[in-house]
Amino acid sequence: MALLHLWIIAITAVVVVANTNPNFLLPRQQNSSTTWPYGPFSTRGRDIINSRNEVITWAGVNWPLSGETMIPEGLEHASADSILDRIASAGFNFIRMPYAIEMIDLFYLNNQTSPPFPQTLLSTLGPDNGTLITTQILTHNPIWTRNTTLLKIWSDVVRMAAAKQLYVHPDAHVSKAKWCCSHADGNAWFGDTHFHTGNWKRGLEYVAAWAGNHSNIVSMSLRNEPRSSSIAGGYNWVNFLGNMTSAADAIHAANPDLLITWAGMQFGQDLSALTTANKNLWTAGCYKCDAVRDGLRREPVYFNLDDHPWGGKVVWEVHLYESSEDMDTGNCRMIEAGLYRNGFNALGMGRPAACNSTLRAAGVEEEWCAPAQKLTPVILSEFGRRQDGGLMSDVLLGCLREFTKRYGVSWAMWSLAGRYRIREGRQQDEDAWGLLNGTWNGWRFEEGVEGFWKPWVRDMGLPSPEGTGSRHRG
Ligand SMILES: *[C@@H]1O[C@H](CO)[C@@H](O)[C@H](O)[C@H]1NC(C)=O
Ligand SMILES: *[C@@H]1O[C@H](CO)[C@@H](O)[C@H](O)[C@H]1NC(C)=O
Ligand SMILES: *[C@@H]1O[C@H](CO)[C@@H](O)[C@H](O)[C@H]1NC(C)=O
Ligand SMILES: *[C@@H]1O[C@H](CO)[C@@H](O)[C@H](O)[C@H]1NC(C)=O
Ligand SMILES: *[C@@H]1O[C@H](CO)[C@@H](O)[C@H](O)[C@H]1NC(C)=O
Ligand SMILES: *[C@@H]1O[C@H](CO)[C@@H](O)[C@H](O)[C@H]1NC(C)=O
Ligand SMILES: *[C@@H]1O[C@H](CO)[C@@H](O)[C@H](O)[C@H]1NC(C)=O
Ligand SMILES: *[C@@H]1O[C@H](CO)[C@@H](O)[C@H](O)[C@H]1NC(C)=O
Repeated sequence: MALLHLWIIAITAVVVVANTNPNFLLPRQQNSSTTWPYGPFSTRGRDIINSRNEVITWAGVNWPLSGETMIPEGLEHASADSILDRIASAGFNFIRMPYAIEMIDLFYLNNQTSPPFPQTLLSTLGPDNGTLITTQILTHNPIWTRNTTLLKIWSDVVRMAAAKQLYVHPDAHVSKAKWCCSHADGNAWFGDTHFHTGNWKRGLEYVAAWAGNHSNIVSMSLRNEPRSSSIAGGYNWVNFLGNMTSAADAIHAANPDLLITWAGMQFGQDLSALTTANKNLWTAGCYKCDAVRDGLRREPVYFNLDDHPWGGKVVWEVHLYESSEDMDTGNCRMIEAGLYRNGFNALGMGRPAACNSTLRAAGVEEEWCAPAQKLTPVILSEFGRRQDGGLMSDVLLGCLREFTKRYGVSWAMWSLAGRYRIREGRQQDEDAWGLLNGTWNGWRFEEGVEGFWKPWVRDMGLPSPEGTGSRHRG
């Protein structure tokens, strides 16, 4: 089953000459609270609010740059501007951008200079394809040159997104850049083959400071999908808490304005011991955790968000796929009970109906239906499936759609990528799950976009971008 989870997984000196996109000529961002997006953001009870106390809801996509090349996928097929236009055209207002800590490691290894982007293309795709893809990226994106660095490309994409009033959420997806996620990929758990915790925190600090140069980055993640490792030990709630709180300290020290999203254990599914009231982390239930045999004899450990200076910045983050190893994704009643148990109790929603019948009859009601320690926002930042006729009747996605609408939950689907530059050794690897098609210039499944994604986004009631009319263009 674990392997099935593979699914989851500054314009400092603009080269103005080559630039043909007016949106690109933006002033350096100010940390301004008087223009969109009215940062900094914070949390108020179960809501995310901007500096004007307005509740913010996100609906969006994942657009990864966490593959081996560390360059956002698709740029060899289409311009960054056209990809962003397509995202905005469906009404989306949010882009979660998975990146690799390795990209920041390269900056430090290379005398604090990010390498020119062709370097990773040549080293990972080989000389022929590396050269070809470099040329294709420059053909579609003439704003860049062979000297443009990896970090500059990302900065430029973020700045173009700002011009379209799209939020960008940097997500520390992996340490070593490659496809995510499994128990055996070396990126799974603190101290894993590639998961050096010092480099991870240094990377988060860098991205947090860099985010200070981008108005449309109001949030960033601690780590994508923590999970047990077939190599590193100590998979338990207490080590999870220790590592995640010290990383939150690092982000908050580097940039105290940012919201910090905190994903659950078991591939981002489970936050129950942290969100639920009175859970002793030594003894709280935990799928696949390494046993803490003397847990009952240890001094109990309780987590309290209010004990931390960033307590008002935390947003819980949950993922759910049909390939889940342990969660029942078979009907809406059980999905809702599972989501409540695993962290959505923090929204302060009522006990799901299954708690009263199914779970009570099974004798697990206590464990599943306990209320939260503190009202906190929770977002659904990954879920997905093939973009084909099955989308319309997919049980899990249909339930998630109703759930997010009913409770005003922000979400991001996995993923935009119609084709990966390189994935698990395969180059130009088509992905049937991609919202875009293989050439990144059309939707993969047009009826799905018109009949499922656009109506879902519309039902979320997102504000229209200011000064541009409706977010929904067609
Ligand atoms: C590192 O970068 C600094 C500042 O750009 C430069 O002065 C120095 O010569 C560089 N060192 C090496 C070893 O390249
Ligand atoms: C790239 O950098 C090299 C060395 O600094 C320089 O000679 C070259 O003109 C630059 N090329 C472009 C396209 O900017
Ligand atoms: C933010 O922008 C300033 C001004 O251009 C620049 O000096 C600094 O390096 C940038 N910070 C990061 C982390 O990119
Ligand atoms: C914005 O705030 C961040 C974090 O406080 C800071 O690092 C950055 O320099 C600020 N940027 C500007 C343009 O003032
Ligand atoms: C982080 O997790 C590792 C591996 O489980 C553990 O050895 C270490 O003590 C944890 N660090 C903190 C600060 O809790
Ligand atoms: C479940 O039972 C509780 C009392 O045990 C009740 O307050 C609540 O309304 C019930 N919820 C549903 C969805 O039936
Ligand atoms: C170059 O990329 C193509 C896909 O576009 C792939 O089929 C081929 O195997 C790659 N060549 C090498 C030498 O990896
Ligand atoms: C993607 O969609 C565009 C627009 O419909 C189309 O021109 C292109 O051929 C499609 N690409 C693939 C690989 O289907």
